[in-house]
Amino acid sequence: MNTSASTFDLAAREYSQQLDQGISLSGESADFFVEHRVRLLATYLQTHTEIRRPRVLDFGCGIGNATEALKEQLDACEVMGLDCSSESIRLAQQRFANSAYRWTVGGSEIAPSSLDVVYTSGVFHHIEPAQRQVELSRIFQWLKPGGVLALFENNPWNPATHWVMSRIPFDHDAQCLSPWETRRRISQAGLTPQLTRSLFFFPRCLRYLRPLEPLLSPLPMGAQYVVLARRSRDLPSGN
Ligand SMILES: C[S@@+](CC[C@H](N)C(=O)[O-])C[C@H]1O[C@@H](n2cnc3c(N)ncnc32)[C@H](O)[C@@H]1O
Repeated sequence: MNTSASTFDLAAREYSQQLDQGISLSGESADFFVEHRVRLLATYLQTHTEIRRPRVLDFGCGIGNATEALKEQLDACEVMGLDCSSESIRLAQQRFANSAYRWTVGGSEIAPSSLDVVYTSGVFHHIEPAQRQVELSRIFQWLKPGGVLALFENNPWNPATHWVMSRIPFDHDAQCLSPWETRRRISQAGLTPQLTRSLFFFPRCLRYLRPLEPLLSPLPMGAQYVVLARRSRDLPSGN
């Protein structure tokens, strides 16, 4: 079992409380951040791709905090949650017992080239650096040609991010990745980064400044960032 699996098996029941201990400093709830990320992805899919009614994977879904937003905002035909923590998946399954969402520990049942969109948020800083490439290669394999990866991460260059993470017990062993590392690794996995945007510049008490965030988003100064990448439509030569 990897370190993240044991950390999050232990933390699963208290996941929401532990997260709130950190993000409450922003004045916002966990749902606020999920909504914002998924809306950004929905807008990207609508304006930059022909992907509609996608099959979506939430990679590192935890207890399923983004599941409903992914289903509704992306108008997804299917949402599958994957996590290495079996306890997190058990709680997610329990939480959405009457719904058609699918869940997997590890993802061995996901067929190659079967997904339109992979969403992953706050996961890669919990993966050992040597394992990050392996996970991105798996994501590459699962995406259809033309499919989209939306990778959201904490920004190591923002001091507030470190302050928030220092208050969250499950983040104590985390190692943040810079947007450069993320883009480099995504490219090495065979995907093409399309867009990198910095997110969440202002806490709730300064929310009147948030209309400036789209203008600031090219600067790597927000609390988080996203890299949107696509799998090329062309098959690699030799196939
Ligand atoms: C901080 S939580 C984020 C959960 C969820 N994405 C959210 O935003 O609420 C990180 C999650 O990533 C999962 N994780 C870490 N490494 C993983 C891996 N290699 N494969 C799948 N899940 C992983 C952990 O078990 C944990 O549930």
